[in-house]
Amino acid sequence: MNSKTSAAAKKWAVANWKQFGRQNFVREWCANFTPPPSPSAGGCQAVICPPFSYLSLLRAQLPASDIAIGAQNVASNGDDGAHTGEVSASMLADCGCEYVIIGHSERRQSQGESDDDCRAKLAAAAEAELTPILCVGESLATRQAGSAVEFVTQQLTAALKDHSRTAPLLVAYEPIWAIGSGQAAKSDDIATMHAAIHAQLSDKFDRIGLLYGGSVNPSNIGSLSCIDFVDGVLIGGASLDPTKMNHIITTLSS
Ligand code: PGA
Repeated sequence: MNSKTSAAAKKWAVANWKQFGRQNFVREWCANFTPPPSPSAGGCQAVICPPFSYLSLLRAQLPASDIAIGAQNVASNGDDGAHTGEVSASMLADCGCEYVIIGHSERRQSQGESDDDCRAKLAAAAEAELTPILCVGESLATRQAGSAVEFVTQQLTAALKDHSRTAPLLVAYEPIWAIGSGQAAKSDDIATMHAAIHAQLSDKFDRIGLLYGGSVNPSNIGSLSCIDFVDGVLIGGASLDPTKMNHIITTLSS
């Protein structure tokens, strides 16, 4: 079990750097990032997810006691072997990772990652005691057709079929059309979706947190953090600016 993941009352701020960063960027980012108060002191859990190549450097630059690091993807096969280009969950743990993003819509779209792939990756993460951050979310067409909740519910049912009740789990609701658009989803729509996910999963998993992602920034974090069943956020573009991350974390911790 990941010692940093505990009660649902805890808040998370997860930074997804995507395919951005260089060694100098990592060092400068860390120099300007203010570690949040520890989660046990009411602060939120910061999780920084750089590209694979910078995991070890990032881990060395940040105080391990209060800030976790995560990866943006993991191999579905946990065994060492002839899997060119893959990085296993145990390798991520070996680099100091405690979390891993699974099923981000950019990977579902560009790599054809399916719910079955997510299921295999969730199993690999659990085996290495990583906390998965499972991303789900609908396209604009699905939302306009009025099927967003049904679509996300099905994604969760398929991906989480084998996930153990006692294994930690973060679910990030990220409507595809809100990612990188500068326009977060409406609070009412987030509230409806998070209530539905809570109703679907809270009885099935003991240690679950629900995140929202999609154009989260310092201007909207105040209203996002007040929505029922929003336990934290997954931040893309804004997370590349440590000042913006500091602001988001301070708001979530207050
Ligand atoms: P964004 O990305 O904050 O830039 O919209 C979020 C994500 O893709 O996780």
